[in-house]
Amino acid sequence: MGSSAFKRILLKLSGEALAGKQGHGINTEIIKRVARDIAEAHQGGTEIGIVIGGGNIFRGIAASAGGMDRASSDYMGMLATCINALALQDALEKEGVPTRVQSAIEMAEIAEPYIRRKAIRHLEKGRVVIFAAGTGNPYFTTDTAAALRAAEIGAEVIMKATKVNGIYDRDPAQHSDAVMYGELTYIEVLNKGLKVMDSTAVSLCMDNKLPILTFNLMTSGNILKATKGESIGTLVR
Ligand code: GTP
Repeated sequence: MGSSAFKRILLKLSGEALAGKQGHGINTEIIKRVARDIAEAHQGGTEIGIVIGGGNIFRGIAASAGGMDRASSDYMGMLATCINALALQDALEKEGVPTRVQSAIEMAEIAEPYIRRKAIRHLEKGRVVIFAAGTGNPYFTTDTAAALRAAEIGAEVIMKATKVNGIYDRDPAQHSDAVMYGELTYIEVLNKGLKVMDSTAVSLCMDNKLPILTFNLMTSGNILKATKGESIGTLVR
């Protein structure tokens, strides 16, 4: 207990990572494992807010590229994040972690509405708060929602847990000689066009001096290591 380097963090989880090898939907073994990892970090004394993507269920940008109206497809993507949020809440509560889901789009029968001060109160009481439905607006990604919520709740860092170890100079899936950065500045990320987060999210972090730590969600124990301040992944600041 009390071994955490951070008092409060915002964890951004990739929806796609929850799909596992099946490529879509929710892999129950993976979500259980991720919930165990979050529970470990929570026991370490860190207050945790979570934003989860929806790409395992619906990708708004891909649908709009296919001809669907961008705003409609983004709203569908926001609903997908709500499905993931409820699944993660269930998995976390099975690990004994009290959680609250707050949605940016009102759906009172399913989740609390997003209320900043209430979210902070939940965190202070030791509850993990899952922020669903992105920012509630089309044209904004869940990465931007993560940056916004992190700033609003006063998180010290955004931890972006993905399918790769950190930020590389080239796509590591296509280039075996891609090199991972240990540390980068926001401007380097923007100038090099590195795909860590979209530029709106990176700019919001830069303006609010919010560090972004990216690491691999697939490696068990990484969330705890990150909250302990161990050196993993790539740090943007
Ligand atoms: P404190 O009163 O600060 O201890 O917080 P609390 O979350 O335990 O109390 P509250 O009475 O607000 O909520 C009790 C339960 O109802 C929690 O599981 C909440 O997530 C849930 N809840 C609260 N408001 C709403 C809502 O508007 N919609 C839905 N679906 N659930 C809600």
